[in-house]
This record gives sequence, structure tokens and C-alpha cells, in this order.
Amino acid sequence: MIGPTQAGELGSMTNSVSEIADDSVVNVSDTLKESQVMEVLHQLDQELVGLKSVKTRILEIAALLLVDRMRRGLGLTSRPPALHMSFTGQPGTGKTTVALRMAAILHRLQYVRKGHLVAVTRDDLVGQYIGHTAPKTKEVLKRAMGGVLFIDEAYYLYRQENERDYGQEAIEILLQVMENQRDDLVVILAGYKDRMDTFFQSNPGISSRIAHHLDFPDYTLEELLAIAQLMLAEQMYRFSPEALQAFEAYLKRRMLMPRFSNARSVRNALDRARLRHANRLLAKGGNVSKIDLMTIEAEDILASRIFHDEIPDSEQQAAIK
Ligand SMILES: Nc1ncnc2c1ncn2[C@@H]1O[C@H](COP(=O)(O)OP(=O)(O)OP(=O)(O)O)[C@@H](O)[C@H]1O
Ligand SMILES: [Mg+2]
Repeated sequence: MIGPTQAGELGSMTNSVSEIADDSVVNVSDTLKESQVMEVLHQLDQELVGLKSVKTRILEIAALLLVDRMRRGLGLTSRPPALHMSFTGQPGTGKTTVALRMAAILHRLQYVRKGHLVAVTRDDLVGQYIGHTAPKTKEVLKRAMGGVLFIDEAYYLYRQENERDYGQEAIEILLQVMENQRDDLVVILAGYKDRMDTFFQSNPGISSRIAHHLDFPDYTLEELLAIAQLMLAEQMYRFSPEALQAFEAYLKRRMLMPRFSNARSVRNALDRARLRHANRLLAKGGNVSKIDLMTIEAEDILASRIFHDEIPDSEQQAAIK
């Protein structure tokens, strides 16, 4: 007869239901502590602004996996839950960032062996010539095993207008692996919501294997400002009070212009502000204080082309990509 303590040791999963008494217990706090998942969840909450519904769903998934672990510890076997996901949202809403965190969480909860993320697009999976696609897709899948395969703009895999498109071959291989190796690989399909919906409609096989749809909303002005301050603090910079006001004015304009891409536009704008800050300090010469070296001033923001109704160069280029 296996006692509660032994049953609580979740390492070996060989116990069978009959050996373990129904009143055996496993401790929730111990399981949480042992998995160290709370640290990652806490970090996710601290380091990512907003994304409330995404964070809630991640908590729910963590709870599911923890309970699954406790159940296995007491000999209650079941197929591991399917965890393939879709992340939909506009550019710069945090999809890639959250996918990376998700890989770490799934690793802590022992859902995947390694917890790495392999990010790909159509070109990494689909070949140009006959016979090239299968080896390419299989090679990517091999690299991703034990972790997360993140397919950005997944809908490009499917070209409705062309029945013989090699993308179809990649989709079929993916489907098989999503079904048969789902306990060692999580596939996350990412992209714009409307295009993803169309993709799912045309590919019910894929759609039915996606357990979680996470939608990443556009950030509000307040969230973008909080993201900016977080990004600056991470690099030991900060806004002067006037610079914060100037940045708010900057964002209000930028949000209305073409090719605005949420947190990514914030990051780009801060990189340019840092450049101007550096040039201003050099031009000034003489002594600079630690405060000077840390502080972005309003002029570093107000010199932006945005205030002359032009999109900054780096964002123009990003748009061409
Ligand atoms: N909620 C957030 N809090 C703080 N930083 C964020 C947040 N969301 C995104 N970022 C930052 O913004 C940048 C862009 O995010 P990310 O690359 O994850 O977006 P994405 O949705 O994958 O965009 P794309 O569709 O263009 O690939 C990253 O530098 C990331 O760290
Ligand atoms: Mg991305």
C-alpha cells in the first residue's frame, strides 16, 4: 500500500489507481512550489503591461497542468491535454513575447522536455520545388520537439487559389504531428485575427486541434506609456516629466498614422530618442551627470519627424518587410 507521502512524490508516474487509496492526498502548495511555476507567472505579470485576458488564460492552463500532475501522482492517468494554440492580434501586441514565456511555463510544468521556442514562417516549412517541402517541414519539427513551434502568419501556409500549392503538404505533416506527438510539442499559430479565422475555416483539421485561442488586443494609450516606461527602466533610462508629456503627444499622433505597430513602435521610438539623447549630450560637451546620462528630455522626443507628420524611417522599412 502506498501512503500519501509517497503518492505525493510526483516523479514516478507508474502507480496504478488500484494501488492508491481513494483518500490519499497530494498537497497543492507543495506541487506549486516544486514546479516553480509561480515565479514565471509572477514575472509575466510584472514584465508585461496589460494583456489581462491573455494572462488569465495562461493561469488557467497552468492550473490544468498542475492538476494533471497531481492526478498522475495519484495514479489517475489520462491523455495529456492538447495544448496547441492560436495567438491573434495586430503587429507588436506581444504575441512572440508571450509565446516565449509560454514555452518556459510549459517546461516548468513538465509538459515539454526542453522549453525552447522555434519561430518560423512559411518559407522555413515550404519548399520551392517538388519533394522539398516534406524534408524542410520535418527538419523544423525535429528542431522544435520538446518545445514550442511558433508559426508566424500561419495562414500563408494555405493558398486557396492554388490546389497544388506545396503549403498543403506542410499542413498535412503538421496535422499528423499535432495529433500524434502532442505530448512533446506545442504548436502556436500566430497572425492577424481575420486572416486566421479564414484559414481555420478552410482548414478544419487544424482548427479542431487548436485547444486555446488567445486574442491580443491593441494597447491603449495608457498601456503604451506604461510599456515605454518599463522599457526605459529595464535599460536604466527614464523620461523627465516633460519628456513623458512629449511622448504622450508623440503616441497620440503615431497611433493615428499608417503602420502603427503597438509596443514595437514604442520600442523603435525609444531607440531613436536614445540616439538623440546621446547626440545632445555629446554636442553639449563638458561634464555630464549620472542623471543626465539617464534622463530622456522633451527635446529628444519633440525632434521626431512625427511632429511634422512623417513616419520615422525605421518604421517605413519595417513596413516594407
Ligand atoms: N505587454 C507588454 N509589455 C511590455 N512590453 C511589451 C508588451 N507587449 C510587447 N512588448 C514589447 O514589444 C515588442 C514587440 O512585441 P512582440 O514582438 O512580442 O509582438 P508581436 O505581437 O509578436 O508582433 P509581430 O506581429 O510584429 O511579430 C517586444 O520588444 C516586446 O518586448
Ligand atoms: Mg512576432
